[in-house]
Amino acid sequence: MLLVLAALPALLLAEVADFGTVPKGMNPTLYSSDDRVIQLDESTFNETIFCTRPDCPSFIVEFYSDWCGHCRSFAPLYKQLGKDVHSWNPVVRVAAMNCADSVNSATCRANGVQYFPYIKYFPRNATEPTSGNLLRAFRTLSEMRDQLTKHVMDDYSVNRFDDWPNFDFLKDMTTFSELWEEMGLNSSAEFVALVFENHPSSLTGAQLLMDLLPYTDRLYARRALKNHPLVEALHLTDFPSLVIFKKGQRVPVVQAELRRLLLNEMEQFLHAEKEQSEVEVQFTARKNASEECINEPEKCKLRYYVSESDMLKAMRYAILRETARTGAPLSGSNLTALHGFLSMLHDHFPVMTVNGDDEQPLPRSSAAISVFARLRDWLEERGANVNDSEYAVVDVDDFQKEFLAAEEDAGNPFPITAEWEHCKGSTRQLRGYSCGLWTTFHTLSVSAYKQGNNASNASPLPLLSSIRAWVEHFFGCIHCRDHFVKMTTRTFPIEIEAKRFDDVYLYLWKAHNIVNARLKGRDTEDPQFLKYQFPARFLCNNCSASEEQTIKPFLLSYYSDIKPYTAPVEKANGNK
Ligand SMILES: Cc1cc2nc3c(=O)[nH]c(=O)nc-3n(C[C@H](O)[C@H](O)[C@H](O)COP(=O)(O)OP(=O)(O)OC[C@H]3O[C@@H](n4cnc5c(N)ncnc54)[C@H](O)[C@@H]3O)c2cc1C
Ligand SMILES: *[C@@H]1O[C@H](CO)[C@@H](O)[C@H](O)[C@H]1NC(C)=O
Ligand SMILES: *[C@@H]1O[C@H](CO)[C@@H](O)[C@H](O)[C@H]1NC(C)=O
Ligand SMILES: *[C@@H]1O[C@H](CO)[C@@H](O)[C@H](O)[C@H]1NC(C)=O
Ligand SMILES: *[C@@H]1O[C@H](CO)[C@@H](O)[C@H](O)[C@H]1NC(C)=O
Ligand SMILES: *[C@@H]1O[C@H](CO)[C@@H](O)[C@H](O)[C@H]1NC(C)=O
Ligand SMILES: *[C@@H]1O[C@H](CO)[C@@H](O)[C@H](O)[C@H]1NC(C)=O
Ligand SMILES: *[C@@H]1O[C@H](CO)[C@@H](O)[C@H](O)[C@H]1NC(C)=O
Repeated sequence: MLLVLAALPALLLAEVADFGTVPKGMNPTLYSSDDRVIQLDESTFNETIFCTRPDCPSFIVEFYSDWCGHCRSFAPLYKQLGKDVHSWNPVVRVAAMNCADSVNSATCRANGVQYFPYIKYFPRNATEPTSGNLLRAFRTLSEMRDQLTKHVMDDYSVNRFDDWPNFDFLKDMTTFSELWEEMGLNSSAEFVALVFENHPSSLTGAQLLMDLLPYTDRLYARRALKNHPLVEALHLTDFPSLVIFKKGQRVPVVQAELRRLLLNEMEQFLHAEKEQSEVEVQFTARKNASEECINEPEKCKLRYYVSESDMLKAMRYAILRETARTGAPLSGSNLTALHGFLSMLHDHFPVMTVNGDDEQPLPRSSAAISVFARLRDWLEERGANVNDSEYAVVDVDDFQKEFLAAEEDAGNPFPITAEWEHCKGSTRQLRGYSCGLWTTFHTLSVSAYKQGNNASNASPLPLLSSIRAWVEHFFGCIHCRDHFVKMTTRTFPIEIEAKRFDDVYLYLWKAHNIVNARLKGRDTEDPQFLKYQFPARFLCNNCSASEEQTIKPFLLSYYSDIKPYTAPVEKANGNK
């Protein structure tokens, strides 16, 4: 009898807190009602977290104290989390409680809060404070999101709530009709999105499924593993990747490398599925290039420039994808090569564009440099570049994960879905990545030259060797790699041909022209970008390959004048 009476007042006061609910209490709070963080207090905690309604979500709760400096500096990150996973709301919600406020002290004590901030995940059918699981302290959004996802997956694996997304991996199937059938049973959506992942423990797919919750009526999304029969049928090689089918069609409407950033583009796709292939048509309709370059050299010249976007795209592929192509771990000489390459990129990747007296910063490239530095340090922590590095072994999945976290923390400096600019080929098979690589190598060499020109001991060898080592260990075009290694060690050896410091860029210019000469007229030559000996007359009228003095100022200025990255222009309404 006494018990019932004691519980009564609390029951009467109980309320469920939601976004925007103003918590009771005297102290200032670290969150406001605009934040995507639910603010709890003594009177709402039980009813919200230990909810018994059928549509209750699970929760992540930060117990903080408004006076704690640590909590204050953590709050912006937690707000970011709230925003970032807002679409996950039907599954999990982000909440917080100020333990410094005396009205909340009993709840904080019941939750065993030992320090601030103290963060717990409460499973969907938590019934008491001890059902909450403590989360590790975290420093980055991606780390926090990953931990949260792991807890949600654990919750799902035990309870398999059928009103949550289906996080199970798609079962093997041999025909597309089985896929439509599976989809039809569960959803009336017109698209199916499949995320193919490397490992059952991968979190990317689960995160995407939750990101897509607002689109449940348009898109039925599932996870699948990379040994699924569809992987071979679709020739998928990079994981995780995303494929979207229109129901009933075997040719995907979207096939892309998957990362979280893709979401924006997916939303665009869902909003407007038109305007496909226009760009391609435009391009092939262009005039015969060699005629243009003879008759209208000024116009042709405009197609030749150094693009920041191309370089960033190429470096992302080189570091993130090429290194993990085989899945083999990094160790010994390939680990040293990757470390050396990152370290060289950090030192020499240009962060300014220079056109005559006009200098401008390249903020995307500066952010990319912080990614290079973080990866370099990360490899060093794992034993790269120390005396006993021969024993160091780095798992490529871990390395990829670190890359993705690092780029996200740096504000995603690498364009993913942007088209190639200068390096765009007239078909998808031409130019692109290999053009981006050459362009980056030349730009790096010119940038290194300008940085180190006055050092008395400046040598062209470290930069050239680090490029060669990367090519030797990672360049996926195997015959390119073999030719390049043979040329740079035997037929036109770096160690003999590159003596003075200006050879750091002159060597690459000559080596590239040797390659151009060999490839001239082959079917890999893009009719729009013939394999001229560089620079062609239309680029530099008074350059003469036999007189290096005429080439040097041209190369230095051409590879310093970088077209800054510009975000793709939004298609204006009513565009004709
Ligand atoms: C290290 C390496 C080795 C390769 N080896 C081979 C191979 O053995 N076989 C093969 O088929 N393909 C090879 N390739 C690919 C090939 O060289 C081209 O990259 C590809 O054919 C695309 O050509 P592209 O027209 O886009 O111009 P690219 O040759 O890629 O050049 C990119 C841009 O660099 C500029 N440029 C061109 N020449 C020079 C120069 N001499 N100095 C400075 N700037 C220049 C131009 O603006 C050009 O558009 C290799 C690529 C690399 C990076
Ligand atoms: C959680 O709830 C589900 C149904 O909502 C139930 O099937 C499951 O047994 C519950 N789990 C626990 C641990 O209480
Ligand atoms: C909340 O629930 C706990 C038991 O889980 C109980 O001890 C406590 O008194 C409740 N608090 C309120 C305000 O109802
Ligand atoms: C999809 O349909 C099958 C067959 O009816 C069913 O077993 C499965 O639980 C459904 N999945 C979802 C997420 O509804
Ligand atoms: C382009 O024009 C040149 C010069 O007129 C000609 O030799 C070449 O065959 C043309 N190429 C194509 C693909 O039309
Ligand atoms: C790196 O080198 C080690 C040791 O030689 C080798 O086992 C591994 O396959 C290589 N990894 C890659 C990605 O080439
Ligand atoms: C190199 O030295 C010259 C003159 O000695 C000076 O004008 C120039 O700014 C220096 N360049 C760099 C990159 O330090
Ligand atoms: C090339 O010629 C132009 C004028 O035609 C001149 O301004 C420029 O300095 C010359 N460049 C070289 C490298 O000689």
